[in-house]
Amino acid sequence: ETRIFFSTELLGWYEQSKRDLPWRRHRDPYYIWVSEIMLQQTRVDTVIPYFQRFIERFPTIADLAEAPEEDVLKCWEGLGYYSRARNLQAAAKQVMERHGGIVPNTKAEVSALKGVGPYTTGAILSIAFNRQEPAVDGNVMRVLSRYFLIEEDVAKVGTRTLMEELAAELIPEGRASDFNQALMELGALVCTPKSPQCLVCPVMARCAGRLEGAEERLPVKSKA
Ligand code: ADE
Repeated sequence: ETRIFFSTELLGWYEQSKRDLPWRRHRDPYYIWVSEIMLQQTRVDTVIPYFQRFIERFPTIADLAEAPEEDVLKCWEGLGYYSRARNLQAAAKQVMERHGGIVPNTKAEVSALKGVGPYTTGAILSIAFNRQEPAVDGNVMRVLSRYFLIEEDVAKVGTRTLMEELAAELIPEGRASDFNQALMELGALVCTPKSPQCLVCPVMARCAGRLEGAEERLPVKSKA
């Protein structure tokens, strides 16, 4: 059926096509967390050298928690959205105080960390701990809205909730880490906002948006 086709083909494609990104070489939840914070408002190509410098300078959560704030901001210089860096350091201190320096692995505890919203919570729990949690950002909503021909406004909270429920159901048992990264990868490399590369898409055959010729006008997003 269309859902199983989607999940199976997407995972197969990811195994073949995934980029060798520095945070994919680590399973340390701290590194996954740093990468997801950097990737929130910044492109992958820009993030790569910053990520590498950051984990060299602050290799552990303890190093980050104990550093002078100006050192952390210095390391972030050029990435923008500096509240991300301040929140990350504040959260590192939370992890030292509340969790003995170990990144927690429950939804309640992860989402309580400073600067960690619903998307980042899902990304950390799934990518670092392989827990069956969705990680729905704008890229993932674009992919899902096209494949399932969802015409609801993605700017609405209710649409995000619907997408999160759908994304959770799509995760093959025990494959949350790869599956969620595969969804992000498809959105980044193939199912792009403009001129999506449908001809090389692993799920084109059953993409309802494509079959309707609607891929370019999806997702529906209201202004303001
Ligand atoms: N964008 C957000 N998270 C990502 C990840 N883990 N890999 C690639 N792109 C991403």
